[in-house]
Parts: sequence; structure tokens; C-alpha cells
Amino acid sequence: MDVGIAGSAREAAVLAADLVAAAVVASASPVLGVATGSSPIGIYDELAGRVERGELSLARASAFMLDEYVGLPAGHPQAYRAVIDAIFTRQVDIDPSRVHGPDGGATDVEGACAAYESAIRDAGGVDVQILGVGTDGHIAFNEPSSSLASRTRIKTLTRQTRLDNARFFGGDLDAVPTHCLTQGVGTILEAREIVVVATGAAKAEAARQMVEGPVSARWPATALQLHPRVTVLLDPEAAARL
Ligand code: GLP
Repeated sequence: MDVGIAGSAREAAVLAADLVAAAVVASASPVLGVATGSSPIGIYDELAGRVERGELSLARASAFMLDEYVGLPAGHPQAYRAVIDAIFTRQVDIDPSRVHGPDGGATDVEGACAAYESAIRDAGGVDVQILGVGTDGHIAFNEPSSSLASRTRIKTLTRQTRLDNARFFGGDLDAVPTHCLTQGVGTILEAREIVVVATGAAKAEAARQMVEGPVSARWPATALQLHPRVTVLLDPEAAARL
């Protein structure tokens, strides 16, 4: 695990974008893993700037989302599909039909999860996974106690994560879905490279556990220590407890 403490959140995003861009140019058909949340927004903005300036193209790329809420009506602005469209897909030159996500509206949930795993495999696997981390150490929606070998499946969201995400639903906890479909920790660990960004004081404990804690389902992000090619980029506030 390479750990970089950047001077600022913006610098962390630029360093992360450098790694993503390098993976993109290294492949004839790059496969990106894209995360929602606020952590990766700086990376997407930086990639979008490079595309706009003609320094990078995602025209040959495809992308796989990490997770999706269950039960939001189609087109809901907080559905992760809509969020990724807004913060990533529409900002760059990727073909929108090649941006994939788990089907949070599926009636056959198990089938949808298995189909998603197959789609990732059929694309050749993820070249570079962009990842944030929750305040409780979750990655994607793999909450504490998730199996470190888990695959894409339905999960119940913890109260802490629903509280953290209530800000996206007008502060109304009741409006935050209770379930999600998420890539498992085992799915995420199959990406060939993983770039994690965590910024702000609220992430300091999760960052400390991810980098220095014992590998444990108590803090799912600690599983990243088992991956041979992970870069963690922190700002000084998130790095404060290292
Ligand atoms: C959500 C997402 C995660 C994300 C986390 C942190 O729970 N499912 O993928 O890493 O939030 O969000 P933020 O980056 O906004 O702190």
C-alpha cells in the first residue's frame, strides 16, 4: 500500500487523476471502476479538465459503478446512476452506454447481482478502481462486518451511513433508502489497481484503520492492505491520526 499525504484535497485529487490517466493510456480498452460520494468528485473534475484540454480521452473506456440504492424510483436524482451521470459520465467523453451499474430496481436481485459480476468479468476486469471510504471504514456499501471475500449482493445500510448520506436527501433520514446493491470486498479486490482518496477530519479514524489497523471486517477498508497495488491519497486532516 502506497500512502501519500497531499498538501490539500485538491492536490490529492490531481495525484489520483494522474494514476487513473496512466491506467487509461496504458490500455487499448481501459476499464474504470467509479465510485460515488464526495471523495472522488475532485478526481472526476480533474479528468474532465484533461479531456477538455485534449490531454486525455476516455472514448475507448468503459466503467463499472460500485453500488446502487435499492428502491429509489427510476430517474431519482440521488440514484447512484444519476449521480455518476452528473459527476462523471457527462463531464468526460466516455460512451454513456459503456457505464454500467448494479440494477437497484431488479425484481430478481440475486440474478441481477450475478449478472453484474459476469459483466465485469466479460469486460476483462477493472483496470483501475477509484474508491472513497466511509467514516465507519466501509468501501462501496460494504459495511462493518461484511465478509472480506464478499461478491456483489444486497446489503442493509447502517444507521451511520444513512445519517452520513441524509445530506443528499434534504437532511431527511427517512428518505434515505435502507438497502443497496454493492460490489463485494472480494469483487473490489480483483481490480488490478485501486486508488483511494479520503479527505477531511471525519475520515481520520477510517484512514488510520485502513492504513495501520489490523485487517478485519470491523473496518472493511483494511482489506485493501491485502491488495498488491493500492495507492491511498489523503489530505492533512484525514492523515492526522496516522
Ligand atoms: C457512500 C458510497 C461510498 C463512498 C462513501 C463515502 O456510502 N457508497 O462508495 O465511499 O459514501 O462518501 P463521501 O466520499 O461522500 O465521504
